[in-house]
Amino acid sequence: MTAQKRFYLTTPIYYVNDKPHIGHAYTSLASDVVVRYKRLRGYECHLLTGTDEHGQKVQQAAQRAGEETALFTSRFAENFRSMAERLQISYDGFVRTTEERHRLSAQAFWTRLQESGDLYDKDYEGWYSVRDENYCDASEIKERADGTKVSASGGEVEWVIEPSIFFRLSKYRDSLLRHYDAHPDFIMPRTRMNEVRSFVEGSLWDLCVSRTSFSWGVPVPEREGHVMYVWVDALTNYLTGLGFPNEGSKGGGLFDFWPADMHMVGKDIVRFHGVYWPALLMSAGLELPKRIFAHGWWTNAGEKISKSVGNVIDPIALVDEYGLDRVRYFLLREVPFGEDGDFSHEAMVRRSNEDLANGLGNLCMRVLTLADRGWGGLPVCEGAACKGVTLEQDEALLAKFDAGEALLEERMEACSFHRALAGVMALVGEADRYITREAPWKLLGAGDEVSKGRAGVVLWVLCECLRMAAIDLLCFMPGSMGRILDMLGVGEGLRDFAHRGRRLPRTGGKLGEVAAVFPRLEKRGEA
Ligand code: MSP
Repeated sequence: MTAQKRFYLTTPIYYVNDKPHIGHAYTSLASDVVVRYKRLRGYECHLLTGTDEHGQKVQQAAQRAGEETALFTSRFAENFRSMAERLQISYDGFVRTTEERHRLSAQAFWTRLQESGDLYDKDYEGWYSVRDENYCDASEIKERADGTKVSASGGEVEWVIEPSIFFRLSKYRDSLLRHYDAHPDFIMPRTRMNEVRSFVEGSLWDLCVSRTSFSWGVPVPEREGHVMYVWVDALTNYLTGLGFPNEGSKGGGLFDFWPADMHMVGKDIVRFHGVYWPALLMSAGLELPKRIFAHGWWTNAGEKISKSVGNVIDPIALVDEYGLDRVRYFLLREVPFGEDGDFSHEAMVRRSNEDLANGLGNLCMRVLTLADRGWGGLPVCEGAACKGVTLEQDEALLAKFDAGEALLEERMEACSFHRALAGVMALVGEADRYITREAPWKLLGAGDEVSKGRAGVVLWVLCECLRMAAIDLLCFMPGSMGRILDMLGVGEGLRDFAHRGRRLPRTGGKLGEVAAVFPRLEKRGEA
């Protein structure tokens, strides 16, 4: 028996200092698309998400709200859980870092670092950005016009002096560089890899891994007054979600999913995942994740999204306004994954109408309405009058769709979602030109059996195109593609890549209820 192919993917865990916004939705959606795709390819997948609930940033947010920290974090963690439900993120595990199982996991991880001799006591004296939860080197600090000192990302920094525990990060410099050399795709896209490499090649200082000036964190084992630096606590969630410290015996337990196949992250947190995390894992004697993919950031109509500007985009409001699948499609089609992108309602409406309403949705309605008219079900192209003979142009179109699968696979492997989608939509465009050229409505209208037979072949070919396109797009738009497959009468068990190459019967069959999948959007009103 061949071993089941496994795939473990994680989203970052989200700070519970505020409501979810489009950036959080984006990371989760991209992760969901990858995992759904892998499942359709026959992998057993585990998608982990969750909430990052410790640290000063969260504690201060609770204080500002005048709420008890634990209650505050529970309330916001619920928001993130319901965002995941609303966006149909098909997660298998959700870790809250305030859970007991996480405390045990993070402490066990810490003990491993301790046992490796990689921890030592020293006072931290330097800059700290609470917004980034990051220690900043003096060389990275900038000064605003009003004299406020800020980190590279614009977060205010404060001078901190406190007794701490340090991790011998510098000891791992050469091992990290060797790992990057041996695995050039460890961090993607390549620009991010280069950034990380030059950071490590520069002066890699030891990392401060405990805090003593506040207590909202995982207690350091056997060290009164120390809580773990929130990033060490947070990164360990990727192990907690697999039941760590119970590593099982590589015999079917959850920990068999380790090492992660991919950590999906935003570009702002690459250093934590690409430098600190692998060094910590090396110290703990655990395998390194296979890939870290860093996506870009969204701006709103050209402006950086920020609460103070008041231009935060609420993903739930977008879904309420446009419907989930339009939002999922837009976010992953509009911008090359890995690059920054700009959100605007105009672009959202344009993209939905062009690709989904006029493109796929329209083709689907035309084909299925004609099939319904001709056969009261799926087209028939085998039988007395029609021998099911496909002509050269029919085979040419089917061949293009067949070949589309390899192209899709290559693009999905590279997380090049916009190209994956563009490829499928280009095929839909081919099918559109084909229906115009073959004009099955004229054939049906001719009233003779031979023409009807030919119409049957043309529409059967088009149903095949729709079926293949729907399978290709299922991971992006599970709801609406599911409806298209329902209409085509494709059974649940046949909706994957193992069945994509098998043809629909030519002898007709029942159509599901035919209804528009993507009605055209009018110009946007106010949400
Ligand atoms: N808690 C840490 C992650 C710990 S993972 C062990 C964190 N949380 S976060 O809530 O601030 O951000 C989570 C994700 O949202 C990051 O991947 C970040 O890049 C992403 N985004 C936040 N704002 C964004 C945009 N404006 N656009 C796109 N994604 C952005 O970091």
